[in-house]
Amino acid sequence: MPGTVGRVTIRAVLDTDLDCLGELAGSRDRAEVRLQAARRDEEVMLVAVAADRVVGAVSVRWRDGCDPPHPWLYGLAVVASARRRGIGRALVEAGEAAGAARGADAMSLDVDVDDEAAAAFYARLGYVVVRPHRHRWRAIDPATGEVTGEGTASTWIMRRRLRGIG
Ligand SMILES: CC(C)(COP(=O)(O)OP(=O)(O)OC[C@H]1O[C@@H](n2cnc3c(N)ncnc32)[C@H](O)[C@@H]1OP(=O)(O)O)[C@@H](O)C(=O)NCCC(=O)NCCS
Repeated sequence: MPGTVGRVTIRAVLDTDLDCLGELAGSRDRAEVRLQAARRDEEVMLVAVAADRVVGAVSVRWRDGCDPPHPWLYGLAVVASARRRGIGRALVEAGEAAGAARGADAMSLDVDVDDEAAAAFYARLGYVVVRPHRHRWRAIDPATGEVTGEGTASTWIMRRRLRGIG
């Protein structure tokens, strides 16, 4: 699963990464909720590290995604200064390899319907749109587990077969 792209290392997240993940995850709370899920082995969370700095992250949820029975890739982000160097691709491929190692036939994800850049990125990596989706999101307080916000977003589910990977 872990690997290197140039001087970038892809590895499983560590508790000590948490302070660096707020920007990539949108907030420290969101990063902590993902880290907690990874500790429970409900998900894997991978980070890209360059010169001891976390420059990218992705999570893959093993169950209860939006396109069962396939694992669900979400939360992919690369810091703006490190984009277009292959790090996003390397994170997705590491997530796919982790899914293939667990026997998954395909990887699924979704993109907001108006996010043409993300859709183009995933299409470049071999993902195809399979259907429109109404994504239900929830914000969770990592200290209490309490739901602090929820809503929906119009997305496209995209999927890629994993045959031949891992
Ligand atoms: C999407 C994102 C993760 C891409 O990361 P990245 O490290 O720049 O991507 P890579 O350098 O690995 O690019 C892989 C391929 O996708 C292409 N690509 C990257 N960004 C693209 C974009 N915005 N539009 C079209 N193609 C794109 C690259 O040209 C590359 O193609 P190539 O291998 O043929 O050269 C990054 O732009 C990002 O963090 N964006 C903000 C968060 C986001 O949109 N996340 C995804 C949706 S949840």
